[in-house]
Amino acid sequence: MDKTHIVDEVTGHRRMRRNRKADWTRRMVQENRLTADDFIWPIFIVPGTGIVDPIKAMPGVNRMSIDKAVEAVKEAADLGIPAIATFPDIEMELRDVTGSQSLVADNLINQATAAIKKAVPNIGVITDVALDPFTSHGHDGILRDGIIINDETVDQVVRAAILQADAGADIIAPSEMMDGRIGAIRRGLDAAGHQDVGIMSYATKFSSGYYGPYREAINTSGLLKGDKNSYYVSPANGTEALRDAALDVEEGADMMMVKPGIAYLDICWRVKEAFGLPTYAYQVSGEYSQIKAAAMNGWIDGERIMMETLLCFKRAGCDGILTYFAVEAAQKLAKG
Ligand code: PBG
Repeated sequence: MDKTHIVDEVTGHRRMRRNRKADWTRRMVQENRLTADDFIWPIFIVPGTGIVDPIKAMPGVNRMSIDKAVEAVKEAADLGIPAIATFPDIEMELRDVTGSQSLVADNLINQATAAIKKAVPNIGVITDVALDPFTSHGHDGILRDGIIINDETVDQVVRAAILQADAGADIIAPSEMMDGRIGAIRRGLDAAGHQDVGIMSYATKFSSGYYGPYREAINTSGLLKGDKNSYYVSPANGTEALRDAALDVEEGADMMMVKPGIAYLDICWRVKEAFGLPTYAYQVSGEYSQIKAAAMNGWIDGERIMMETLLCFKRAGCDGILTYFAVEAAQKLAKG
């Protein structure tokens, strides 16, 4: 007998590879799994009809007019995707310093919600109330003398949230990170008779470079001067992010989101552990585009990394993922 092996008798009893030896053992020990139920699909809406306009910085993602969005959402529902999140690309003429278009009851986003809920009633519609698609400066709130004004923005966001709920939105997702917004939106919704409309808090939204392609998608990149550091969380600060999230829980958030996703898995884990609320990661535009770009160059296997990143969110404690891959990944799962 050859006794020269480095693995000795003791380590020989502890062979991790026993559970990895065959497809059936691997399936037996698999801890996390993806299904279409895990995906929330963010989509971009433009005015007009019959429009499917590719976003250059996000290969495979389109801006869609409402009629086309309705068709696409039907497909998503048929694949088993439980919810979508809508973002509008508002006409430039309608954008102003205060984002007043957000307070127009039949604005683009609310029209989209109404049309989608009418045609596909059993898919959840999640709407954002940040003002950035509506402002002429691309910031998420009201800008005065170089400062984003917190409480006035919250007042406006509450009014916008009520209009979104009136249009049929099921969950309001405020991404503008103003202090006190969750409690104010909850009170506003309740007073307007929308007790059943939920709030998904963008609890920990980081001031990130990963949002670049999104800003092209809704045409805010050319408008935005400066950065969002005075209201988003610094990528350096995990404990501060947790404190911010704790306030949202106290104020009545129904579910939590961490954004961006893959570089912030530690935050996903901490948020889930700390609060036990349903917790979602937003795999944002830059994460999507990185994978697509590298795959298009033949440098990585795009499909494989799509599925791997999505699964890793589950391992990190997430209950679901907002992802531009939602339809592609659900199609892949359906094929088996
Ligand atoms: C702003 C908002 C952002 C995203 C959605 N809403 C970030 C930003 O522009 O600062 C990013 C989404 C993505 O990158 O996919 N309220």
